[in-house]
Amino acid sequence: MQIDAHTSLYGVFGNPVSHSLSPVMQQSAFDAHGLNAVYLAFCIEDIALGVSAVRTLGIKGVSVTIPHKVSVMPFLDEIDDLARRIGAVNTIVNRDGRLVGYNTDCHGAVEALSEKTEIKGRTVAIIGAGGAARAVGFGVREAGGKVTIYNRTPEKGKRLADDLGVSFQPFSQIAKSADRIVINTTSLGMHPNIDASPLSDSHFDKGMAAMDIVYNPLKTRFLETAEKSGAVIVDGLSMFVHQGAVQFKLWTGKTPPFEQMKASVVKILNKTSTSL
Ligand code: ATR
Repeated sequence: MQIDAHTSLYGVFGNPVSHSLSPVMQQSAFDAHGLNAVYLAFCIEDIALGVSAVRTLGIKGVSVTIPHKVSVMPFLDEIDDLARRIGAVNTIVNRDGRLVGYNTDCHGAVEALSEKTEIKGRTVAIIGAGGAARAVGFGVREAGGKVTIYNRTPEKGKRLADDLGVSFQPFSQIAKSADRIVINTTSLGMHPNIDASPLSDSHFDKGMAAMDIVYNPLKTRFLETAEKSGAVIVDGLSMFVHQGAVQFKLWTGKTPPFEQMKASVVKILNKTSTSL
């Protein structure tokens, strides 16, 4: 693509952001459609200034990541209903100067999970109670899953469970649960701590499903253990690409080239091994 005076600018705001694979994935989508656009990573300390920059520079769209998903909300002109109900924004769309916040994590999680397993009527254990757990929990509950939040810090877990209208159990009780779908939303098992897992080997059996939001490594210890026990597994890459595909559609109105987006991320993960 030739950069010129008409090139549109998109990006991801986070801190840290140097590990982000969104630039690779979104640029592959722009390129696949032959769009005159670039997507860059911006390490943003002050999100108010970041949003101001979107207005000043006319940035067309932004992915918002840790730690700004909640704090960005007051600085936008409008929050989509779903993002408001979840309480977090991971996408900004610049509509002729009007900045609108969306949440695509929720949709990404449900798409990724439902590709591999039925959600409706199943008992679902969500490990963790941070921003990711909030979006995943909301989506799974809406899809008809019977959710229990398991969290190390009881107050935080209970607050999320109350907000979602679902049950809460202390993290220590997870080993005794018989939930059929288990979702890790903590960073346990992420590079470089690849031996860590929120659940021991004895937890899983056939008929269960395990989903991880961690995608580096692609197959975490948690997923490896689950797979060995015969459980269905859903890796973090799937949710990442699905949430990114919805972002691309919101920004451009075009059909996301899902397979190209996925392949671009897999290529980087394979090339850099676990050093991200
Ligand atoms: P995010 O917004 O990405 O979800 P977060 O808000 O920092 O990140 O939330 C991370 C979640 O992972 C928290 O629920 C955290 O548990 P606490 O509420 O007790 O802090 C959980 N978590 C992180 N590291 C953990 C660990 N080593 N063991 C158990 N839970 C952990």
